[in-house]
Amino acid sequence: MICDYEGSDYKQRFWQNADRAYEDAVERVAIAKFLPPKGRRIIEIGAGFGRLGEMYRGYDEIILLDYSRSLLEQAREMWGHDPRFKFVAASVYELPFAQGVINTALMIRVMHHMADVPAALKQIRYMLAAGSTFILEFANKRNLKAMARYALRKQDWSPFAPEPVEFVKLNFDFHPQWMAEQLAEVGFVTEQRIPVSYLRVGALKRTLPLETMVSIDKTLQSVAPLYAPSVFTLNHVKGGVDASHLVGETIFRSPKSGAALRREGNFLVCDADGTRWRVDGNFYDFKDAA
Ligand SMILES: C[S@@+](CC[C@H](N)C(=O)[O-])C[C@H]1O[C@@H](n2cnc3c(N)ncnc32)[C@H](O)[C@@H]1O
Repeated sequence: MICDYEGSDYKQRFWQNADRAYEDAVERVAIAKFLPPKGRRIIEIGAGFGRLGEMYRGYDEIILLDYSRSLLEQAREMWGHDPRFKFVAASVYELPFAQGVINTALMIRVMHHMADVPAALKQIRYMLAAGSTFILEFANKRNLKAMARYALRKQDWSPFAPEPVEFVKLNFDFHPQWMAEQLAEVGFVTEQRIPVSYLRVGALKRTLPLETMVSIDKTLQSVAPLYAPSVFTLNHVKGGVDASHLVGETIFRSPKSGAALRREGNFLVCDADGTRWRVDGNFYDFKDAA
């Protein structure tokens, strides 16, 4: 089950027409703290319309992957002029990459749509090279607002219970300890976790200047416990395969079978499973076989 953003007005509705400058700014602060500034190949999973594209400017090759073709087309409008960018339509549950070809991965504001977290993490782990970095953001059920609501009996689920809570269909909040266990289970070593967006409160956003909010959040990211609505984690892959030297389209595999692909006109073709995947310049469509 996938939360489908195809044709959605996410960019306008969520970011442009709403007061989210604070969230955007503090997420960038958290990413800058964790992201190796330079590297070979980076991927953002669930990149949407490419909001964070400029953060990856130190990388030789930049892959923006999303399940929504329409959001990815918006990302292509924003970043497609830069030859280092590739746009890949695919699901995190069926990633179209060979083992160990990616050096750095991020997934921001996407995990909360995952009904099967272990399956998603397993796919991500497979495409990451030995020594690579994975920055994961997730929505934290053990946040101050949820604690207060639970104490006042305005919410029936406990923010302290480990299991994920689906508060709206395909929208989940996770307990930090539960997520730590899922990451460890598939072989990630979590080095750091930080709370982000502590000040996500309408009244504060309306009264305090943005710079003040960002400066307070920056301090809280370093010193506060994990009770904010969003948690950023820095994870590494120790050991395993490093195939990040592969170049061009040799990094791709059929998302159906994991078998090799070859180029035939505007398609990547898999002789092993008979699938064909459309390519339009720098846009690779692994969502539905042609
Ligand atoms: C809330 S948006 C976040 C977009 C972007 N990460 C950002 O922070 O601006 C969630 C994104 O996750 C994508 N998504 C949801 N389920 C997915 C899946 N199974 N595979 C890949 N992308 C998915 C959606 O299409 C959407 O673009």
